[in-house]
Parts: sequence; C-alpha cells; structure tokens
Amino acid sequence: MYPVKAAAVHQQNQPKEKERFIAESVAAETGVLPFASDSSVGIPDYLRDVYHWAYLSSLGRAVFDHPLVVHAILWGNMHRLTRAMVTEVKPGQSVLQPACVYGNFSLVLAKAIGTVGRLVVTDIAPLQVTNARRKLGHLSHVTVQLSDAARPPGGPYDVVACFFLLHEVPEDYKHRIVDALLSVVTPGGKVVFIDYHQPWPLHPLKPLMSLVFNTLEPFAGALWQREINSYGFLTKHFSWHKETFFGGLYQKVVAQPRAEDGCCSAHGRQIADSAYSSMGDSGYWS
Ligand SMILES: C[S@@+](CC[C@H](N)C(=O)[O-])C[C@H]1O[C@@H](n2cnc3c(N)ncnc32)[C@H](O)[C@@H]1O
Repeated sequence: MYPVKAAAVHQQNQPKEKERFIAESVAAETGVLPFASDSSVGIPDYLRDVYHWAYLSSLGRAVFDHPLVVHAILWGNMHRLTRAMVTEVKPGQSVLQPACVYGNFSLVLAKAIGTVGRLVVTDIAPLQVTNARRKLGHLSHVTVQLSDAARPPGGPYDVVACFFLLHEVPEDYKHRIVDALLSVVTPGGKVVFIDYHQPWPLHPLKPLMSLVFNTLEPFAGALWQREINSYGFLTKHFSWHKETFFGGLYQKVVAQPRAEDGCCSAHGRQIADSAYSSMGDSGYWS
C-alpha cells in the first residue's frame, strides 16, 4: 500500500497546493521526483533503428495513439489484456509502468489504484513522456518520467506492470530489464509481464505474425522461443505463474518474490549489478 496520509491531504485546500503536497510526499517516500527525468538517458540504437516510425516520430504518435488502433493491433484483445493487468493491482498500491503504452492503458491503471495509490509511468523516449504527460497530467497521483526500464527510478513498488515492452528490445536488454524490474518490487509485491507468446501450432494468425515479426519487430520472435523466467539473474528468487490468451498468442506472467529469498529491492539490485558489471560489455547475453 502506498502510505500517503489521506487526512493530511484533506487539509490542503487549494488544488495546486494539494497536488504539490502529494507530489512531495511521493518524492520523499519513493525517491521519484514528480517531473524529474534521468538526464543520463539516451535513445538506444534499437529504438532509433527499428522503432523510429512508431515511437520517435510525431506522425507515429498521431496514428497509433488511439484506443481503437491499439485494439486492432492486438487483434481485438486490448480490453482483455488491460483487464488481465488491472486484476493484479489493488486500490492504494504503488505501481511502476516501465514503458508508455498508446491508448488509454495508463488511465485505466491509474483509475484502478485510485487517488491514494501511486502510478509512476516511465519511458525512454522524450516524445512518449511528453505525450503521456499530456494524457495523464491532470491526475495528481500519477508521475511520468524519462527513464530506461533497465534502470527504473525509485521503488520498491507493490506492482510493476510491464505491458508489451520485452518483445521490443534486444536479448541483452531483455535480461537487464527483467532483472531491473524484479529488483524494484516489495517483498509481498509482484511483477506482471504481458506480452507476445508462441501461439498454438495451427493458430490461423501464426504465419502473419511471423511475417510481422520478421519485417517490423525483429526482437519479438524470441518470446516464441523462450520463457520470460529464463531471462536475468534474479528469476530463481521468484515464483512464476503463466497464463496464455487468444490461442497462446499472448501471455501474462506474474513473478512474486519467494519470501525466504529476500532478494528484492536493494539486495536484488546489488546481485544483478555485480553480475552485469563482472560481465562488462562482452555481449555474453546476446
Ligand atoms: C510498451 S511498448 C508499447 C506497447 C504497445 N505496442 C502500444 O501500442 O502502445 C513501447 C514503448 O516502450 C518504450 N521503450 C522501448 N525501450 C524502452 C526502454 N529500454 N525503457 C523504457 N521504455 C522503452 C518505447 O519508447 C515505447 O513508448
């Protein structure tokens, strides 16, 4: 639960003061500054080379950022998959969404946790951060920040909601993001991944999705070949549960820390950081 003191909030009469009070409380308790951004964040090559058209251009944003378009891209499954994520959160919780999503996903998530909850939305692309702030800026319990999902801000969070991010990043990044997200969850919390998955052998959309992956989404096919819990160093400290949807084309994977392992937060980050720094840039993971 996110411990913003509701009684104290009610004492703030002016909406602006109230908003600032909440933002300051959040900053004090999570380490996330309300409108701050990590100045060391740069656009990674894979995003520039592969996804410029979708996430770095204003035209892409104008075309894709509509609930109906996202619904069509997900073959009519947007509501179902959003619901699958929302059932994992409770009112009052602190939630990290480590990459922006077109359409109204974040608004639904923000509504589900309520105004005593806290939603931190991050993205590595400044255009996406600006766009998300435009859509969410009126919600004082939501923060939008420029940040790499492999180095998430603040925490620990009750829930990390990772929606269709992993299929868009190269393999080395998948390892780092999985570890980073596992390391910012509370001991009783969870990390929820919703993403592509290998469909059943005779799935009618399998050939078309293969073509889409081969031409537009070169890092997505890996999720047809391996399980999300096979990425990273920290996965063995978590219990994993997988559910598939729409003939197996989509998956929801929930990771919960094993109580006895105590590898969350700072300790988890330490384990992952020391493992990655000892590897250097050898490309071992690719
Ligand atoms: C979550 S996915 C989009 C999901 C879905 N396809 C949609 O329609 O919105 C895409 C977002 O991930 C962001 N992204 C890619 N790599 C990232 C990283 N390493 N850290 C944070 N955000 C990242 C992109 O900038 C983009 O806004």
